[in-house]
Formats: sequence, C-alpha cells, structure tokens
Amino acid sequence: MYEITVKGQTGHSRIQVGGRLADLAGHLSGQRAIFITDRNVAALYQDRFPPGDVIVIGCGETNKTLDTLAAIYEQLIALEADRTTVIVGIGGGIVGDITGFAASTYMRGLRFGFVASSLLAQVDATVGGKNGVNFKGYKNMVGVFNQPAFVIADIDLLTTLPRAEIACGVAEIVKHACIADAAYFEYIEAHCDGIAALDPAVMLHLVHRSVVIKAGVVNQDEREAGERRKLNFGHTLGHAFEKTLGISHGAAVSAGMLLAAEFSMHKGLLSANAFNRLRALLERLGLPVALAFDRTEVFNALKKDKKRQQQEIHFVLLEKIGQATVASVSLEEVARWLMQRP
Ligand SMILES: NC(=O)c1ccc[n+]([C@@H]2O[C@H](COP(=O)([O-])OP(=O)(O)OC[C@H]3O[C@@H](n4cnc5c(N)ncnc54)[C@H](O)[C@@H]3O)[C@@H](O)[C@H]2O)c1
Ligand SMILES: [Zn+2]
Repeated sequence: MYEITVKGQTGHSRIQVGGRLADLAGHLSGQRAIFITDRNVAALYQDRFPPGDVIVIGCGETNKTLDTLAAIYEQLIALEADRTTVIVGIGGGIVGDITGFAASTYMRGLRFGFVASSLLAQVDATVGGKNGVNFKGYKNMVGVFNQPAFVIADIDLLTTLPRAEIACGVAEIVKHACIADAAYFEYIEAHCDGIAALDPAVMLHLVHRSVVIKAGVVNQDEREAGERRKLNFGHTLGHAFEKTLGISHGAAVSAGMLLAAEFSMHKGLLSANAFNRLRALLERLGLPVALAFDRTEVFNALKKDKKRQQQEIHFVLLEKIGQATVASVSLEEVARWLMQRP
C-alpha cells in the first residue's frame, strides 16, 4: 500500500492507494458514520460496509444535481446526522463529487472521506478536493473546494467495473503520463496487456503513479490558477466531443488528447515522433484516436467552454512526452486550424 498526502487550504487529505474497503472502519476515528453510495455499488458491496446508515443515490450523470443533494440533506436530517458524524462516499466520481459537496455544506461541513471504486475516481475524481454538482446543463457549475480527510483506492473493487468505465480511467492515466512523466508513459507502453487483463500489480502501479502526479500538481496549485490547468490536457476539445457526439468522457478525452497533440505539432512544439507514439499507445489501449465530427458544431461547443476567458482559451499543449505547457490561444486561431485540417 502507498500513502500520498494532498495538502490543501481546507486540510490534508490522506490517500491510501491499495487500501481496502475492509479496513474502512479504521478511518472512522470512532465517529458515527453515514455512507453515501449509488445503486450499482450498493448491490455489489453494501454487505461489506462497516455498520452505519446508508444513503443510496441513482446512477449516472443525470443524478448529479441539486435535487439529489436536497434528497441527501433530507435523509441526513431524518437520520439526525450532526457535527460529530463522518460522511463516507463509496463509489465512483459521481458519488464522490456529490458526497463531498453534501458533507461540506450540511451543517456548514462535516468530516468526510471516500472509498473510490471506479478507476476514474481512484486516479482522478477523489484526488484534489473539487466537489460539486451540475446545474442547468452546465457541468460542475456549483460546488466547493474542500479536501476529504481520507481516500481509500481499493484496487480489488476494479474487478467488477464495466470495461467502458475502465477505459475512462485509462484515458486519464495516459493524460497524466503525457503531461508529467515520460518514464510512466514508457511503463504504460510496456504494460498494455497487463492493463487489458487488469493485472493487480500493474493497476496498483498505475493508480499510485497517477495519484502522485495529480496530488503533486494540486499541492502546487489547488485552486487552478496555473499548474493545475495542465490536467485539462485533451479536455478542451474532449468536452466539445463529449457534448456534440454524446460519447463517453474517456473516449472524448482520448481523441481530444490526440487532437491537442496535433495542434501542438502544428504550432511547432511537438515532434511527429512523439505524436505517433501517443497515437500508437491510445490505439493499443483500445481508445479512439480519430472521430468523425462536425467542425462547426465542435467549434461552437468550444465557444461555450466555461474555462474560456473572453476570446482566449487556456489550451494545454504538449512539448514532448512528459511535458506540457499552457498557452493562451485565441478562439480564432483554433477555428482557423480546425477548418484547414485535411
Ligand atoms: N472532482 C474531480 O476532481 C473530478 C475529476 C474527474 C471527474 N470527476 C467527476 O467524476 C464523474 C465520473 O466519475 P466515474 O467515471 O467514476 O463515474 P460514475 O461515478 O458514474 O461511475 C461509473 C459507473 O460505474 C459504477 N461503478 C463504480 N464502481 C464500481 C465497481 N467497483 N464495480 C462496478 N460498478 C461500479 C457506477 O455505479 C457507475 O455506473 C463525473 O461526474 C466527473 O465530473 C470529478
Ligand atoms: Zn477527465
């Protein structure tokens, strides 16, 4: 097991990679616990939760709303949760984001932690202290920065995770390697079969390296004023694909990363060799590298990106494998390049 610490303004978060759901009781500090999970995770794992009340929410992004949050507050009141209660979200990123927000706001904030059960939650969503819900079609529009007291990333839980959900986590793993760690990229290149087979030693290494990278970035820039923006590599175009094509986040980010790499090459920053390596790796991992998309629709979605500032967007460019830079790029330049691509 590895332990990584995120040092946030609201407190420290201890992340145990390779920790176990079975050891959750040890993190509750003798406090009364209330668990929040979703229907899928409850069906598979609720019998392994420590003693305590359980709040079950529906599955999927459509449940990441203020309505679900209100239903959670109601149940917390009915269960007489108070400032001495600890709240634990057990599930994927959706359970985590909602639980963190509910626990941060109910009675002005209770102690909370997570057991991350999806690969994306383990390598990304439970690291860094962003909590929140969607609002009127805008993703993560309402929320708070607040670090969970503890996170358990239990690799064994991944065995029941659907393949498409594994792919979402793998896309973020490749992102971490691209922006921060060439040796990690090489490791992924050498272990594609182990990833496909969910080899526990390989998965442990991946979750560990990714958490170290994300925690390192967050420790430098918790509030996303600079360094943390690099974690958006592939996401500016990825979000546009997700919206316009209705595909999964992982698939969109994969194609978004390759297109961002192409743009980096177009701007003379990235070598063709590095671009080809990224494309080959994504292909071997079964992630999409090229999508048929409507340029105008994608460009219109880019214009609506909430991270846009006036006519400029913070675009994450790749300089080489393992090194990214954030540039302020005008929407017009992106449009020109998108339109003239073959
Ligand atoms: N806070 C952050 O910094 C951050 C970062 C990235 C993503 N996110 C958010 O995370 C969410 C996506 O997270 P996700 O991909 O984990 O989605 P998710 O929470 O919907 O989980 C994916 C699916 O897998 C199921 N599941 C989870 N664990 C399982 C297991 N062990 N076995 C079987 N099924 C399991 C869930 O029920 C769900 O159907 C998005 O809402 C996104 O905005 C947040
Ligand atoms: Zn992502």
